[in-house]
Amino acid sequence: MYGLVNKAIEEMAIKVGGTDVWDAIKLKAGVDIPTFISMKVYPDELTYKLVDSASEIFAIPADELLRQFGKHWILFTAKEGYGDLLEISGSNLREFIENLDTMHSRIASTMPELNPPSFECIETDDKTLQIHYFSDREGFAPMVIGLLEGLGEMFAVDITVAHVQTKAAKGFDTFEIHYL
Ligand code: HEM
Repeated sequence: MYGLVNKAIEEMAIKVGGTDVWDAIKLKAGVDIPTFISMKVYPDELTYKLVDSASEIFAIPADELLRQFGKHWILFTAKEGYGDLLEISGSNLREFIENLDTMHSRIASTMPELNPPSFECIETDDKTLQIHYFSDREGFAPMVIGLLEGLGEMFAVDITVAHVQTKAAKGFDTFEIHYL
């Protein structure tokens, strides 16, 4: 994955625990890279190792850490030069989710090796959205919960997010957003 993701993990870890804790996370993960470069591609394995190591060092389950990371990602990308893209990608939550694939395609114009996920959004009633998440990667569903919660905060809407079907069962994950 592009280094932008590892940089976001770094920023979140330093915010919570400081630089010494981040160094300990990298050491435990066996990652000897002083500075991640946003536009460089690193093996996915490295990102998984960082998440596992951070989960152990912060004593937080990896799923919960990924959920918090999803929320952090929205704030992080907004200040890393993607704020305008976030602004133009939809004027409400549903529109934004419907535009996620277009948004990642735009990002791919500057990140040619991007392997982005894909989303479908179905309005099942006026208080419920069903989101289908397709990805070549394993293990990022908890991050999607945090991302959707973070988007709820961005649009100042009160929602709950539930993971209602796993990739193991159907080949893709399904989430349900309920407006409160
Ligand atoms: C402007 C903001 C965003 C940027 C710059 C961005 C960029 C990226 C990048 C660089 C990756 C790593 C993929 C790779 O390197 O192959 C990624 C993955 C991902 N993105 Fe985005 N993204 C943004 C917003 C979002 C939002 C709002 C969502 C909400 C659902 C989202 C969902 C995901 C997920 C779930 C992954 C994990 C990888 C996977 O499932 O394969 N992204 N994104």
